Amino acid sequence: MDPIAKNFVRASLLYFFIGVCLGLLQLFTKDEPLLKFAHVHFNLLGWMSMMIYGVGYHILPRFSGNPVAYPGLMKWHFWLANISLVGLCGVWGYADGLTKLFAVLQVAAVGMFVANIMASIGTAPAESSH
Ligand code: HEM
Ligand code: HEM
Repeated sequence: MDPIAKNFVRASLLYFFIGVCLGLLQLFTKDEPLLKFAHVHFNLLGWMSMMIYGVGYHILPRFSGNPVAYPGLMKWHFWLANISLVGLCGVWGYADGLTKLFAVLQVAAVGMFVANIMASIGTAPAESSH
């Protein structure tokens, strides 16, 4: 498995644990919007999305017999997705400008995955020797 794909799976599992801890914490606090925002987005952009990134990079291009179209982009996607998720959950509710910046970066990270997978599954299979 590609090391970046593996790191996405590792990050996803870490966010899963953080996400459920924040979920649990909500049961012991009273209607805390910051906690809810972080709970929802660590779970959905962290656990759910990053598991899909990791497994998706590994398996989706293989369905059409190709490697990932732009392997160099995966590293950028990994760092951008992680920095912007932690940033978003860290500043939401405190700093409007930074929230918007991290939101734009998160959308850019999603765009990198979409473009890379589209390109990977859209090309004809590479020549094989069988
Ligand atoms: C131990 C596991 C979990 C606990 C204890 C938990 C707890 C909670 C609680 C108490 C709320 C309500 C907050 C409120 O409205 O005041 C909530 C909302 C939410 N949780 Fe969890 N949660 C858990 C796991 C998850 C997971 C795994 C996901 C997604 C993959 C998730 C997604 C959501 C979402 C999307 C909302 C917001 C729903 C809405 O818009 O009203 N939760 N959670
Ligand atoms: C660039 C990515 C994203 C950004 C910038 C973003 C931003 C936001 C914002 C600003 C809110 C409103 C919070 C509030 O006013 O209380 C929100 C709520 C929510 N978002 Fe996202 N979001 C993103 C991605 C996603 C994704 C991918 C999902 C699901 C797969 C998701 C699920 C939710 C849910 C369920 C709520 C409602 C939570 C609640 O009940 O308070 N978001 N998001």
